[in-house]
Amino acid sequence: MISAVPKRPLQIGHIDVWYCFTDDHRLNSRVDQYEAMLSPAELAQYQQLMHGSNGKDYLVSRALLRTVLSEYCDLAPEKISFCVNDFGKPELNNSEARGIIQFNTAHTSGLTVCVVTRDNDVGVDAESHAENQSVVNMADDYFSALELQALNSCSDDQKLDRFYRYWTLKEAYIKARGEGLSIPLHDFSIVLDEEGGFDGFIGPEADRWDFRVLCKNLNYTVALAMGGKIENVSYFHSLPLGQQVQLSPEDAFNHMPLNTNAQRHRMIG
Ligand SMILES: CC(C)(COP(=O)(O)OP(=O)(O)OC[C@H]1O[C@@H](n2cnc3c(N)ncnc32)[C@H](O)[C@@H]1OP(=O)(O)O)[C@@H](O)C(=O)NCCC(=O)NCCS
Repeated sequence: MISAVPKRPLQIGHIDVWYCFTDDHRLNSRVDQYEAMLSPAELAQYQQLMHGSNGKDYLVSRALLRTVLSEYCDLAPEKISFCVNDFGKPELNNSEARGIIQFNTAHTSGLTVCVVTRDNDVGVDAESHAENQSVVNMADDYFSALELQALNSCSDDQKLDRFYRYWTLKEAYIKARGEGLSIPLHDFSIVLDEEGGFDGFIGPEADRWDFRVLCKNLNYTVALAMGGKIENVSYFHSLPLGQQVQLSPEDAFNHMPLNTNAQRHRMIG
């Protein structure tokens, strides 16, 4: 069987990670264009949120998702149509785009992220960091016994960092599987190495799954899970309908203006 090939080159096992800081003031001049991309359902959701602090985050996250997907499918951003599975995971609904790519998205205060790959289930999670260490107590309700044991053996100054790594990796796995919280969170375990990198997965079809912490800085943790081996990850900072810059893994997710990055990184749009 010949599988359809995405418009933008994407090898199997390769993941493109696109992100945008939603508080970037350069987005303000494009709000009308972003609104024009939304479906009636998205517009209704946006109108509910637009008077609160989450309105702009929602609008930019839909604009990023639509403009990114249009890079891989031969469709204008406003022509992209979504359906969802029984647990709410969005998929492409346009007949000409179905099956070309797999994608997932996450948003947290000030940041939206979208990941795209071929042929394998993929999930992403992003969390902005709470200043209050007590967030770590949530681990008791959500982490497996093995994860709790590892977390509790960390030094106090390491704990918050490790908590976010476990949390985002677990959430990314649930999102990749697309079955929501019907997957019991205690029934699978993420293993981290001493530096906090992914070191193993204990759970169903363990050999199939691969994980990566994409971003760990002062403000955010972002992680992804894929139902196949992760061969390569590329990072793109994007202003939807504006500049796109490819960054190294070390520079990705650092809060620098796009035109500063452009001095050192490949401009692609
Ligand atoms: C629906 C769910 C994805 C919510 O996640 P969230 O943290 O509120 O939101 P995120 O920013 O990570 O993701 C939201 C996006 O995920 C996508 N999504 C929705 N349902 C999904 C599902 N079942 N599977 C994968 N992706 C889904 C959508 O694109 C959504 O974007 P939208 O809000 O613009 O529609 C779900 O996984 C959930 O409720 N998780 C439980 C959270 C939890 O207890 N985590 C514990 C980790 S230890």
